[in-house]
Amino acid sequence: MKIAVFGTGYVGLVTAVGLAELGHHVVGADKVAEKIDKIAKGEVPIYEPGLNELLESNLKKGRLAFSSDLDKTILDSDVIFVCVGTPQGDDGSADMSQIEEVSRMIAENLNSYKLVVEKSTVPIKTSSWIKRTITLYKKTDMAFDIASNPEFLREGSAVSDFLNPDRIIIGVETERAKEILVKIYEKAKDRLVITNIDTAELIKHASNSFLAMKISYINLMANLCEKTDANIEQVAQGMGLDPRIGGLFLKAGLGFGGSCFPKDLKALIKIGEDLGVNMNLLKETDRVNADRVKVFLEKIKKALWILKDKKIAVLGLAFKPETDDIREAPSIKVIRELLNEGANLRLYDPQARENMKELFPEYLARIVYCDSPYQAAAGVNALLIITEWKEFLDLDLKKIKEVMANPIIIDGRNIYDAERVKKLGFEYYSVGRK
Ligand SMILES: NC(=O)c1ccc[n+]([C@@H]2O[C@H](COP(=O)([O-])OP(=O)(O)OC[C@H]3O[C@@H](n4cnc5c(N)ncnc54)[C@H](O)[C@@H]3O)[C@@H](O)[C@H]2O)c1
Repeated sequence: MKIAVFGTGYVGLVTAVGLAELGHHVVGADKVAEKIDKIAKGEVPIYEPGLNELLESNLKKGRLAFSSDLDKTILDSDVIFVCVGTPQGDDGSADMSQIEEVSRMIAENLNSYKLVVEKSTVPIKTSSWIKRTITLYKKTDMAFDIASNPEFLREGSAVSDFLNPDRIIIGVETERAKEILVKIYEKAKDRLVITNIDTAELIKHASNSFLAMKISYINLMANLCEKTDANIEQVAQGMGLDPRIGGLFLKAGLGFGGSCFPKDLKALIKIGEDLGVNMNLLKETDRVNADRVKVFLEKIKKALWILKDKKIAVLGLAFKPETDDIREAPSIKVIRELLNEGANLRLYDPQARENMKELFPEYLARIVYCDSPYQAAAGVNALLIITEWKEFLDLDLKKIKEVMANPIIIDGRNIYDAERVKKLGFEYYSVGRK
């Protein structure tokens, strides 16, 4: 079975490498030729733990290749995993133009039966649109099937998530498609959940929106804690011990960001509203999340009063630890607000500095990109924790205090023990606790 993976971004590259690791012959294809040239040489264009090693070993074993010749890749394939982007459109719905583009390309190169597998996160009924597009544009009578196999990997642990998934959702409408996908995932057959296509498409959106809702819920409780003597860490612990609730995703902080939760939540709201379903529960989830940066900025102002000409260290730029991805990262909103208020910033992140450098070009005079947290802290009036990298948890806070102008920490992720930090002489603000 010859497998093609279309799109070699965060999901497509991990999918291509992961399928090769499962023993299949895979060609990863992308329309950005420079990206493909790099990957084909064994260079991973993103930061993702463990990906480099697996890419290299599968390239060496000859099971994995990369190409920017998209037509040829389709012609040579039996199964095509579609992993292109589905970014947020202007009205909140997912922009499906990349999916449509690939569908047309597949139609034009349909030289044999092909199974087209949606791995990108797509609205319910996308498979019908892909089917219609291929049918409209195909030049032969060749049969084809569409299947849904949404991806649940998390950036930062994408390789192990792909190779050890909790579940593999397969949405199919023919026996032929089902048999192919069951064979591809033979090694994880105990974790297969087989459904129809609409169900599979909805499982992905429903899962992401539920997790987003859990985060907004605990952040709402954190707001309550800040008005009372309750402590959000203990509230979360007490709630999470109930197995019906579970302890994960109950971490109060700056809210969710990244390329998935914000856009998938908005897309599901739009899907529901287009179908005449009241989606207010999810609209509130989105609103609570949008308020997180505002709440954080209020804390910064409470500590520093006027931000103009203040020097502020920002630790953490990636939307979460163990990735260089800054798409929809809370750091961007915080930085934008601070710059608008006239602050001077010293930014540090272990992996995401290069990506961040492309933003805010008009503010270069007021931004210093630093090579360490200690360098970022030098001479600042306050230090902000935006992303909970382990490196920040392990900082020598005594040393940090020595280099800061004022010992003030505003921790958006509750990474430190409040008592310990205060004992060291810091003024310390965190989320939902004193
Ligand atoms: N990033 C995640 O953590 C994650 C997790 C699960 C699901 N998803 C979903 O997976 C999809 C991809 O996400 P991503 O983060 O990998 O996106 P990405 O933007 O990193 O990658 C998309 C890739 O597709 C390529 N591409 C676009 N049009 C193409 C075409 N016509 N032919 C070939 N390649 C083309 C782009 O050049 C790019 O390399 C999205 O639907 C996303 O919602 C993402």
